[in-house]
Amino acid sequence: MSNLILTAEQNGLFTITLNRFDKKNALNDAMYQQLCQHFEYAAFTDNIHCVLIQGDENCFCAGNDLDDFIKADENSDLAAFKFIKILGTFNKPLVAAVAGAAVGIGTTMLLHCDMVFAATNSKFKLPFTQLGLCPEAASSYLLPLRIGANRAFELMILGDTFSAEQAFTYGLVNKVCSPEELLASAQQSAIRIAQLPSDAVITGRRLIRQASQAQIAQVMNDEANEFFRLVKGKECKNIIAKFFKR
Ligand code: COA
Repeated sequence: MSNLILTAEQNGLFTITLNRFDKKNALNDAMYQQLCQHFEYAAFTDNIHCVLIQGDENCFCAGNDLDDFIKADENSDLAAFKFIKILGTFNKPLVAAVAGAAVGIGTTMLLHCDMVFAATNSKFKLPFTQLGLCPEAASSYLLPLRIGANRAFELMILGDTFSAEQAFTYGLVNKVCSPEELLASAQQSAIRIAQLPSDAVITGRRLIRQASQAQIAQVMNDEANEFFRLVKGKECKNIIAKFFKR
Protein backbone atom coordinates (compact mmCIF):
# COMPACT_ATOMS: atom_id res chain seq x y z
CA MET A 1 0.00 0.00 0.00
CA SER A 2 2.82 2.38 0.94
CA ASN A 3 4.48 2.43 -2.50
CA LEU A 4 1.44 3.57 -4.47
CA ILE A 5 3.11 6.96 -4.80
CA LEU A 6 6.87 7.19 -5.36
CA THR A 7 8.99 10.30 -4.95
CA ALA A 8 12.51 11.33 -5.89
CA GLU A 9 14.36 14.54 -5.13
CA GLN A 10 17.33 15.74 -7.16
CA ASN A 11 18.86 19.12 -8.04
CA GLY A 12 15.81 21.13 -6.98
CA LEU A 13 13.34 18.84 -8.76
CA PHE A 14 10.82 16.80 -6.79
CA THR A 15 9.31 14.00 -8.87
CA ILE A 16 6.03 12.37 -7.85
CA THR A 17 5.22 9.11 -9.65
CA LEU A 18 1.79 7.51 -9.45
CA ASN A 19 2.43 3.81 -9.05
CA ARG A 20 -0.82 1.87 -9.06
CA PHE A 21 -0.62 0.63 -12.60
CA ASP A 22 -2.79 -2.48 -12.06
CA LYS A 23 -5.67 -0.04 -11.44
CA LYS A 24 -4.58 2.44 -14.12
CA ASN A 25 -3.35 4.78 -11.38
CA ALA A 26 -6.87 5.40 -10.06
CA LEU A 27 -6.40 7.55 -6.96
CA ASN A 28 -7.77 6.13 -3.72
CA ASP A 29 -8.02 7.86 -0.35
CA ALA A 30 -4.61 6.63 0.82
CA MET A 31 -2.97 7.95 -2.36
CA TYR A 32 -4.63 11.36 -1.98
CA GLN A 33 -3.37 11.55 1.59
CA GLN A 34 0.15 10.76 0.43
CA LEU A 35 -0.13 13.29 -2.39
CA CYS A 36 -1.21 15.94 0.14
CA GLN A 37 1.84 15.19 2.28
CA HIS A 38 4.20 15.31 -0.70
CA PHE A 39 2.80 18.58 -2.02
CA GLU A 40 2.97 20.14 1.46
CA TYR A 41 6.56 18.94 1.79
CA ALA A 42 7.45 20.41 -1.62
CA ALA A 43 5.73 23.71 -0.81
CA PHE A 44 7.66 24.17 2.43
CA THR A 45 11.07 22.81 1.38
CA ASP A 46 13.26 25.68 0.23
CA ASN A 47 15.54 23.69 -2.03
CA ILE A 48 12.65 22.20 -4.05
CA HIS A 49 12.14 24.54 -7.01
CA CYS A 50 9.86 22.51 -9.26
CA VAL A 51 7.55 19.47 -9.01
CA LEU A 52 6.99 16.92 -11.77
CA ILE A 53 3.98 14.59 -11.60
CA GLN A 54 3.88 11.52 -13.81
CA GLY A 55 2.78 7.93 -14.27
CA ASP A 56 4.66 6.02 -16.92
CA GLU A 57 4.75 6.08 -20.73
CA ASN A 58 1.44 4.16 -20.94
CA CYS A 59 -0.71 5.51 -18.12
CA PHE A 60 -1.13 8.74 -16.21
CA CYS A 61 -4.26 8.47 -14.07
CA ALA A 62 -7.75 6.92 -14.43
CA GLY A 63 -9.21 9.47 -12.02
CA ASN A 64 -10.69 8.93 -8.62
CA ASP A 65 -10.99 5.34 -7.44
CA LEU A 66 -14.64 4.62 -8.25
CA ASP A 67 -14.88 2.25 -5.32
CA ASP A 68 -14.35 5.20 -2.95
CA PHE A 69 -17.30 6.94 -4.62
CA ILE A 70 -19.49 3.88 -4.02
CA LYS A 71 -18.52 3.89 -0.34
CA ALA A 72 -19.11 7.64 0.12
CA ASP A 73 -21.94 8.29 2.58
CA GLU A 74 -23.25 11.06 4.84
CA ASN A 75 -20.26 10.77 7.16
CA SER A 76 -17.46 10.44 4.64
CA ASP A 77 -15.01 13.12 3.75
CA LEU A 78 -13.33 12.46 0.41
CA ALA A 79 -9.58 13.00 0.67
CA ALA A 80 -9.68 14.09 -2.97
CA PHE A 81 -11.03 17.47 -1.92
CA LYS A 82 -8.16 18.15 0.47
CA PHE A 83 -5.74 17.36 -2.36
CA ILE A 84 -7.66 19.61 -4.76
CA LYS A 85 -7.41 22.53 -2.32
CA ILE A 86 -3.67 22.03 -1.91
CA LEU A 87 -3.28 21.85 -5.68
CA GLY A 88 -5.22 25.10 -6.13
CA THR A 89 -2.93 27.01 -3.78
CA PHE A 90 0.35 25.26 -4.56
CA ASN A 91 3.12 27.86 -4.82
CA LYS A 92 5.77 26.21 -6.99
CA PRO A 93 5.98 25.31 -10.68
CA LEU A 94 4.22 22.07 -11.50
CA VAL A 95 4.95 20.02 -14.62
CA ALA A 96 2.95 16.95 -15.72
CA ALA A 97 3.87 14.06 -18.01
CA VAL A 98 0.70 12.45 -19.36
CA ALA A 99 0.26 9.18 -21.25
CA GLY A 100 -2.65 6.78 -21.76
CA ALA A 101 -5.60 7.40 -19.47
CA ALA A 102 -6.06 10.90 -18.10
CA VAL A 103 -9.59 10.65 -16.72
CA GLY A 104 -11.50 12.94 -14.32
CA ILE A 105 -9.00 14.40 -11.90
CA GLY A 106 -6.32 12.92 -14.17
CA THR A 107 -7.31 15.71 -16.55
CA THR A 108 -8.57 18.42 -14.17
CA MET A 109 -5.33 18.46 -12.16
CA LEU A 110 -3.58 19.49 -15.39
CA LEU A 111 -5.44 22.80 -15.29
CA HIS A 112 -3.29 23.62 -12.24
CA CYS A 113 -0.02 22.64 -13.92
CA ASP A 114 2.34 25.14 -15.52
CA MET A 115 3.58 22.83 -18.26
CA VAL A 116 1.95 19.68 -19.56
CA PHE A 117 3.67 17.11 -21.76
CA ALA A 118 1.40 14.55 -23.40
CA ALA A 119 2.29 11.36 -25.23
CA THR A 120 0.50 10.59 -28.48
CA ASN A 121 -1.27 7.67 -26.75
CA SER A 122 -2.98 10.00 -24.22
CA LYS A 123 -6.74 9.76 -23.86
CA PHE A 124 -8.26 12.64 -21.92
CA LYS A 125 -11.78 12.29 -20.57
CA LEU A 126 -14.06 14.13 -18.17
CA PRO A 127 -16.91 11.67 -17.58
CA PHE A 128 -18.52 13.56 -14.70
CA THR A 129 -22.01 13.78 -16.19
CA GLN A 130 -22.00 10.16 -17.37
CA LEU A 131 -21.24 9.13 -13.80
CA GLY A 132 -24.02 11.33 -12.41
CA LEU A 133 -21.44 13.74 -11.00
CA CYS A 134 -20.31 17.31 -11.59
CA PRO A 135 -16.92 18.91 -12.32
CA GLU A 136 -14.29 19.39 -9.62
CA ALA A 137 -10.88 21.02 -9.05
CA ALA A 138 -12.29 24.37 -10.27
CA SER A 139 -12.52 22.85 -13.75
CA SER A 140 -16.03 24.31 -14.20
CA TYR A 141 -14.30 27.72 -14.08
CA LEU A 142 -10.82 27.01 -15.47
CA LEU A 143 -11.78 24.89 -18.49
CA PRO A 144 -14.26 27.37 -20.04
CA LEU A 145 -11.78 30.16 -19.24
CA ARG A 146 -9.09 28.30 -21.17
CA ILE A 147 -11.03 26.81 -24.10
CA GLY A 148 -14.40 28.62 -24.21
CA ALA A 149 -17.78 27.63 -22.79
CA ASN A 150 -19.07 25.67 -25.78
CA ARG A 151 -16.03 23.46 -26.12
CA ALA A 152 -15.93 23.02 -22.31
CA PHE A 153 -19.55 21.83 -22.49
CA GLU A 154 -18.57 19.20 -25.08
CA LEU A 155 -15.72 17.90 -22.97
CA MET A 156 -17.27 18.22 -19.53
CA ILE A 157 -21.00 17.59 -20.06
CA LEU A 158 -20.96 15.27 -23.09
CA GLY A 159 -17.72 13.76 -21.74
CA ASP A 160 -16.13 13.27 -25.17
CA THR A 161 -12.69 11.65 -25.13
CA PHE A 162 -10.00 13.90 -26.58
CA SER A 163 -6.50 13.22 -27.85
CA ALA A 164 -3.10 14.75 -27.11
CA GLU A 165 -3.27 16.62 -30.42
CA GLN A 166 -6.68 18.05 -29.54
CA ALA A 167 -5.46 19.01 -26.06
CA PHE A 168 -2.50 20.74 -27.71
CA THR A 169 -4.78 22.63 -30.09
CA TYR A 170 -6.99 23.68 -27.15
CA GLY A 171 -3.91 25.05 -25.35
CA LEU A 172 -4.12 22.52 -22.51
CA VAL A 173 -0.82 20.84 -23.42
CA ASN A 174 2.58 22.42 -24.14
CA LYS A 175 4.13 19.60 -26.12
CA VAL A 176 3.03 16.32 -27.68
CA CYS A 177 5.69 13.64 -27.96
CA SER A 178 6.03 9.91 -28.47
CA PRO A 179 5.45 7.69 -25.42
CA GLU A 180 9.15 6.78 -25.49
CA GLU A 181 10.20 10.44 -25.29
CA LEU A 182 7.62 11.55 -22.74
CA LEU A 183 9.28 11.15 -19.36
CA ALA A 184 12.70 12.41 -20.48
CA SER A 185 11.17 15.39 -22.26
CA ALA A 186 9.07 16.43 -19.24
CA GLN A 187 12.00 15.89 -16.89
CA GLN A 188 14.30 18.01 -19.05
CA SER A 189 11.91 20.97 -18.91
CA ALA A 190 11.27 20.50 -15.19
CA ILE A 191 15.03 20.54 -14.52
CA ARG A 192 15.34 23.68 -16.65
CA ILE A 193 12.66 25.35 -14.52
CA ALA A 194 14.31 24.14 -11.29
CA GLN A 195 17.60 25.71 -12.31
CA LEU A 196 16.14 29.19 -12.92
CA PRO A 197 16.28 31.80 -10.10
CA SER A 198 13.65 30.32 -7.81
CA ASP A 199 12.23 33.48 -6.23
CA ALA A 200 11.77 35.00 -9.70
CA VAL A 201 10.02 31.86 -11.00
CA ILE A 202 7.68 31.64 -8.02
CA THR A 203 6.92 35.36 -8.18
CA GLY A 204 6.26 35.28 -11.93
CA ARG A 205 4.05 32.22 -11.55
CA ARG A 206 2.06 33.88 -8.76
CA LEU A 207 1.56 36.99 -10.89
CA ILE A 208 0.40 34.91 -13.88
CA ARG A 209 -2.17 33.19 -11.68
CA GLN A 210 -3.27 35.82 -9.18
CA ALA A 211 -6.21 37.24 -11.16
CA SER A 212 -8.03 33.89 -10.98
CA GLN A 213 -6.91 32.78 -7.50
CA ALA A 214 -9.86 34.06 -5.41
CA GLN A 215 -12.32 32.73 -7.96
CA ILE A 216 -10.68 29.28 -7.90
CA ALA A 217 -11.16 28.95 -4.13
CA GLN A 218 -14.83 29.96 -4.37
CA VAL A 219 -15.55 27.62 -7.29
CA MET A 220 -13.81 24.70 -5.58
CA ASN A 221 -16.10 25.13 -2.57
CA ASP A 222 -19.24 25.33 -4.71
CA GLU A 223 -18.19 22.29 -6.74
CA ALA A 224 -17.37 20.30 -3.59
CA ASN A 225 -20.86 20.92 -2.15
CA GLU A 226 -22.55 19.77 -5.37
CA PHE A 227 -20.17 16.83 -5.85
CA PHE A 228 -20.85 15.54 -2.32
CA ARG A 229 -24.60 15.81 -2.89
CA LEU A 230 -24.40 13.89 -6.18
CA VAL A 231 -21.87 11.23 -5.13
CA LYS A 232 -24.10 10.21 -2.22
CA GLY A 233 -27.15 9.89 -4.48
CA LYS A 234 -28.61 6.65 -5.85
CA GLU A 235 -28.20 7.59 -9.50
CA CYS A 236 -24.41 7.94 -9.24
CA LYS A 237 -24.03 4.79 -7.12
CA ASN A 238 -26.03 2.71 -9.63
CA ILE A 239 -23.95 3.94 -12.56
CA ILE A 240 -20.64 3.25 -10.81
CA ALA A 241 -21.77 -0.20 -9.65
CA LYS A 242 -22.16 -1.08 -13.35
CA PHE A 243 -18.49 -0.21 -14.01
CA PHE A 244 -17.39 -2.97 -11.64
CA LYS A 245 -19.87 -5.48 -13.12
CA ARG A 246 -18.46 -5.23 -16.67
N1 COA B 1 -11.46 3.28 -10.08
C1 COA B 1 -11.26 2.02 -9.68
N2 COA B 1 -10.73 1.06 -10.46
C2 COA B 1 -10.37 1.43 -11.70
C3 COA B 1 -10.54 2.72 -12.19
C4 COA B 1 -11.12 3.67 -11.32
N3 COA B 1 -11.29 4.94 -11.69
N4 COA B 1 -10.10 2.76 -13.46
C5 COA B 1 -9.66 1.54 -13.76
N5 COA B 1 -9.83 0.73 -12.69
C6 COA B 1 -9.44 -0.69 -12.59
C7 COA B 1 -10.43 -1.61 -13.32
O1 COA B 1 -11.54 -1.91 -12.48
C8 COA B 1 -9.54 -2.80 -13.60
O2 COA B 1 -9.42 -3.52 -12.40
P1 COA B 1 -9.41 -5.16 -12.46
O3 COA B 1 -8.23 -5.53 -13.31
O4 COA B 1 -9.27 -5.56 -11.02
O5 COA B 1 -10.72 -5.54 -13.10
C9 COA B 1 -8.17 -2.17 -13.87
O6 COA B 1 -8.20 -0.88 -13.26
C10 COA B 1 -7.86 -1.97 -15.34
O7 COA B 1 -8.91 -1.22 -15.92
P2 COA B 1 -9.56 -1.57 -17.34
O8 COA B 1 -10.87 -0.88 -17.43
O9 COA B 1 -9.58 -3.04 -17.53
O10 COA B 1 -8.50 -0.91 -18.34
P3 COA B 1 -8.77 -0.35 -19.80
O11 COA B 1 -7.43 -0.07 -20.37
O12 COA B 1 -9.68 -1.24 -20.55
O13 COA B 1 -9.54 1.05 -19.58
C11 COA B 1 -9.97 3.18 -18.53
C12 COA B 1 -8.91 2.11 -18.91
C13 COA B 1 -9.26 4.22 -17.69
C14 COA B 1 -10.52 3.82 -19.83
C15 COA B 1 -11.13 2.52 -17.79
O14 COA B 1 -10.58 1.71 -16.75
C16 COA B 1 -12.08 3.49 -17.14
O15 COA B 1 -12.94 4.05 -17.82
N6 COA B 1 -11.95 3.69 -15.82
C17 COA B 1 -12.86 4.54 -15.07
C18 COA B 1 -12.44 5.98 -15.19
C19 COA B 1 -13.35 6.89 -14.40
O16 COA B 1 -14.54 6.94 -14.63
N7 COA B 1 -12.77 7.62 -13.44
C20 COA B 1 -13.46 8.49 -12.55
C21 COA B 1 -13.55 9.84 -13.13
S1 COA B 1 -14.44 10.99 -12.09
